Amino acid sequence: MKLFLDSANIAHITEAMSWGAIDGVTTNPSLVAKEGQDFFPLLKQICELVNGPVSMETVSRDAQGMIDEGLVFSKLDPNIIVKCPLIKEGLKATRELTARGVRVNVTLCFSASQALLAAKAGAYYVSPFVGRLDDISVDGMALIRDMKTMFANYRFATQILVASVRHPLHVIEAARIGADIATMPFSVLETLVKHPLTDAGLERFLKDWDQLPAKAKAWKTKIGAQLPIR
Ligand code: G3P
Repeated sequence: MKLFLDSANIAHITEAMSWGAIDGVTTNPSLVAKEGQDFFPLLKQICELVNGPVSMETVSRDAQGMIDEGLVFSKLDPNIIVKCPLIKEGLKATRELTARGVRVNVTLCFSASQALLAAKAGAYYVSPFVGRLDDISVDGMALIRDMKTMFANYRFATQILVASVRHPLHVIEAARIGADIATMPFSVLETLVKHPLTDAGLERFLKDWDQLPAKAKAWKTKIGAQLPIR
């Protein structure tokens, strides 16, 4: 399973990439607006940091506008994936961009029927928003199960990119179901690594280590002095 960071924040992307667990980045107009920066330089900077797919969303309501924007985005970097919304115009744009060799992430997916149409249109990714479904008391993960079954039944190549991830259980459940990717904000990524028993265990190990007489720990000082890699 691939893990993407859902962010346009350079500090968060840099930190997450350094952990070696992040395979790509997704953004949306809200995330970009939060950064308050010039769009194209920001997009370029993100692509330079990420050695993997970077999704950028079109901001037109009509297919031609989405196609025009998508073609511009796609020229910026080979890793760009163009996001189009799951409306009729978005499906038209998906079909056309895909035919022109541009990979499309069909976003704002909230139902199995929408997902089916996105796959038929040739989407590279389809992004079901599980958190926003949960928000309205609809089981978001049930949609992921349906999509997994449908795509397997007909061998659709479209990948399931679980989005609107709000907590670690969304990520774990997506992995259990066999979703291709989960994209999450930096705050959720941080919760994936955290465990109180790890922190308590480390504290105990290091406290015990401190009890060793200085002589017994001398090797560490020596190594420190010799470290050629620093
Ligand atoms: O990529 C889509 C995602 O950012 C939406 O998340 O938390 O705004 O529903 P959220």
